[in-house]
Amino acid sequence: MNAFPKFQIYYFSGTGNSKNVALWMSNSALKHGIESQIINIAKIDRQSIEKPPSDALVIFVSPIHGFNYPPVMLNFISHFPKGNNKVLLMNTRAGMLIGKYVTPGLTGIAFFLSSILLLIKGYSIQGMVPVDLPSNWISVHPGLNERTVKYLHTKNKERVSQCAEKIISGKKDFKALKEVVQDIIISPVSVLYYFVGRFCLAKTYYASGDCNNCDICIRNCPVKAIIKVKDRPYWTFKCESCMRCMSNCPKKAIETGHGYVLGIFYIYSAVTAIFYKFFIKGQIGPDNEIFKFFFDTIVFLVILAISYRGIHYCMRFKLFEKLIVYSSLTKYKFWGRRYKALKDQ
Ligand SMILES: Cc1cc2nc3c(=O)[nH]c(=O)nc-3n(C[C@H](O)[C@H](O)[C@H](O)COP(=O)(O)O)c2cc1C
Ligand code: SF4
Ligand code: SF4
Repeated sequence: MNAFPKFQIYYFSGTGNSKNVALWMSNSALKHGIESQIINIAKIDRQSIEKPPSDALVIFVSPIHGFNYPPVMLNFISHFPKGNNKVLLMNTRAGMLIGKYVTPGLTGIAFFLSSILLLIKGYSIQGMVPVDLPSNWISVHPGLNERTVKYLHTKNKERVSQCAEKIISGKKDFKALKEVVQDIIISPVSVLYYFVGRFCLAKTYYASGDCNNCDICIRNCPVKAIIKVKDRPYWTFKCESCMRCMSNCPKKAIETGHGYVLGIFYIYSAVTAIFYKFFIKGQIGPDNEIFKFFFDTIVFLVILAISYRGIHYCMRFKLFEKLIVYSSLTKYKFWGRRYKALKDQ
């Protein structure tokens, strides 16, 4: 006997991992004769969301970004209409393979925050399940090799189908709660990422001289964060760093600018040092750390935004472009393998 007659699955996905989980859940449902609807939240109006069918199990699937669900998913959940369905929260995180061991990713506050929002709206939580698929975050680590990607894909497909069986039979699945201590410990980082980190990351992407202006990145960005400035793709602060544009560019022209971000960091350090030395002259003590934090953050973001404009302009000069490109780790073979989730046949 199935516990639910319907699955209503909402997902967000940059490079395909979360989409795969949504499909795997749906396939398991269909095998049991359960109706299933999959909705890509990037393709619907997130301000006026239709209420899910009252007898459906509602499932949310999203990657983890900075120890939390990305803002696009949090925003979707916070605009989700009130209801009393049961909800299954799932995420996909940065799995890696060391020898034969899968190292799990870190969920942080994603499940707690969304559970609170959904409980307030009247929903009840049926499970919280993390899925450790290959990490797509090639801005911070070299792209994973084919063997790792295949292994994690196959292993997790099996795990997701086991989870679906459990849920369909009416059992709860709270695997994520085993990690509650580490999730609480890292929670301050998720707050920092939400308010600062993601804006910094948005300005680390650029299109190199290999770009042929095909506009694929602009058309496919799930949050419409790339615009054209002076005939070149330009990343705005709306970017969620989902990695889709970098992975899909047919010319492999999108890079993460490690070198120039380091340069901007030096400029920022110099500007704040001068400000504190000559303008504030020792008036900032340890009791003013909060002021200092906000001030430093604002200065950094302003310098980043201005420099990004400048760099975008200067990229038309060959020598400058080469300097930026060759100081980007993603340009190099040992690092820059792009990631796209495997597709089932
Ligand atoms: C900007 C960014 C931040 C990330 N932060 C985390 C994180 O905090 N914890 C984690 O386990 N994985 C993290 N990841 C890895 C992704 O969550 C993981 O690869 C996910 O499966 C990608 O899903 P998608 O293909 O559906 O976009 C991050 C990836 C990116 C691009
Ligand atoms: S997808 Fe690549 S080549 Fe096409 S416009 Fe974007 S950066 Fe340029
Ligand atoms: S700009 Fe690229 S990384 Fe940013 S949200 Fe759009 S597709 Fe994702």
